Amino acid sequence: MREHAWRLGRRAARRDATTVAPAGGRDADTLDVTSDVVLAPMAMRDLPAVVAIERRVFTAPWSRRVFTDELAERASRVYRTAWVRSEIVGFAGLMLVDDEAHVNTIAVAPQWHGNRIGTVLLVDLVRTAVERGARHLTLEVRVGNEPALALYRRFGMAPVGVRPNYYPEDDADAFVMWAREIDAPSYRRRLDEIEAVLGRERAGNRENREGRDAS
Ligand SMILES: CC(C)(COP(=O)(O)OP(=O)(O)OC[C@H]1O[C@@H](n2cnc3c(N)ncnc32)[C@H](O)[C@@H]1OP(=O)(O)O)[C@@H](O)C(=O)NCCC(=O)NCCS
Repeated sequence: MREHAWRLGRRAARRDATTVAPAGGRDADTLDVTSDVVLAPMAMRDLPAVVAIERRVFTAPWSRRVFTDELAERASRVYRTAWVRSEIVGFAGLMLVDDEAHVNTIAVAPQWHGNRIGTVLLVDLVRTAVERGARHLTLEVRVGNEPALALYRRFGMAPVGVRPNYYPEDDADAFVMWAREIDAPSYRRRLDEIEAVLGRERAGNRENREGRDAS
């Protein structure tokens, strides 16, 4: 992931949001990821915020031009932005080639890390990829990127090899990871379970908050 300036993509509109957020203020401490995060197809007008996040989290960030090129290729790309109220808090994108889905990028703004926004983005990407005919999921990830590795492992992705010096900016290596047969019922159950855990965590967080407020 990340060193490619893939040349295909998809443009979209915010009204196609797949989750509806309630009104009311949310910050990273009070976020309920199952109801407060809105996913929408990435649109051109999102790019200033997307590129701003990109610059904060990647050492060799994609330019606006790369995203523009990606979004111009509608047939084989799926790009999403994650919103909390009027703020873009993350994004993710993948490329479809034959029956393979290649996760090109995923990022969450640093102040929102650890709130399962990456998980929500990836569930949506994978479900969309399956709907569009993908049977296998792959990506490259920097060796030592523990948050990303933890995320991908939860999605059943396993390293199958190393690409040495994959990241030219610092010659770092990448793991190549795959999850096979993401169209199988067993994998659908995995996605269902990931979402069920999000719901249980939400309930746990709410109880903790109420306990704090009551004490
Ligand atoms: C990878 C990334 C998108 C995950 O987003 P997120 O919303 O924080 O992810 P989630 O909250 O869904 O949690 C993902 C996992 O990361 C873990 N994690 C979060 N912060 C961590 C940290 N600082 N160190 C280790 N693990 C961490 C979480 O505990 C979770 O693992 P778990 O399921 O075993 O508990 C985010 O860390 C990010 O934007 N990183 C910078 C960009 C990047 O590296 N992208 C991946 C390129 S391959």
